[in-house]
Amino acid sequence: MEKQITREDALTRKGFKHACHIMLYGDTSAKLFGKIPIKHIVLMQMRFDGLLGFPGGLVNPSKETLEAGLSRELHEEVGVAVFVGVDNHMCSCLSSSCPNLITHFYIKKMTESELNELEKAAVATAADHGLEVLGMVRVPLYFLRNGGGLPYFLSHSFISNSRAQLLSALQRCRLLSQGEIEKAVSQAEQMRC
Ligand code: GTP
Ligand code: MN
Ligand code: MN
Ligand code: MN
Ligand code: MN
Ligand code: MN
Repeated sequence: MEKQITREDALTRKGFKHACHIMLYGDTSAKLFGKIPIKHIVLMQMRFDGLLGFPGGLVNPSKETLEAGLSRELHEEVGVAVFVGVDNHMCSCLSSSCPNLITHFYIKKMTESELNELEKAAVATAADHGLEVLGMVRVPLYFLRNGGGLPYFLSHSFISNSRAQLLSALQRCRLLSQGEIEKAVSQAEQMRC
């Protein structure tokens, strides 16, 4: 487990780098194969290193606020300037994989059409498209036969603690029940062997 600290505590610590990432999500009434409710759109990205993660990046708090830095990273990585405020902050952690790094995580709800426009911009105008970012991906939140859907998605490899960030945000935003999250995690676990 990563150690959680407050946003304020994080900003008083000297000698740390700060990374800010965000889960952009929204509701949809679309149905897969015309019958399986998609329920929610949740965006992640395929990174240059082949790992899944959230859009965002390194922010230098002596030059810009965490939220302004995250907005700048979003402009680079998804091609549109999404406003991020302190209200969107969900948690800050001392990274266990990277000793001098604090990871800040944000969540922001958007409309389905805003998310569709953002996905288009991520290909059409984002400076990092095809370079640091290989593409935005939607997280499947449903369950199909034999682990299809969320369990298979969770069996991929994720950067840093972004997999745990995804699971806690799905719970926090009530996009899935605690029981559904546990089911997905245990089915994903069985796929690893
Ligand atoms: P450059 O523009 O090349 O500097 O990259 P960046 O600023 O976009 O940084 P990046 O998004 O790679 O994030 C910086 C560091 O934060 C990474 O090296 C990872 O250790 C960590 N990181 C990246 N993505 C995530 C994420 O989704 N969640 C968490 N918790 N950490 C992440
Ligand atoms: Mn970046
Ligand atoms: Mn990044
Ligand atoms: Mn950067
Ligand atoms: Mn698309
Ligand atoms: Mn960059």
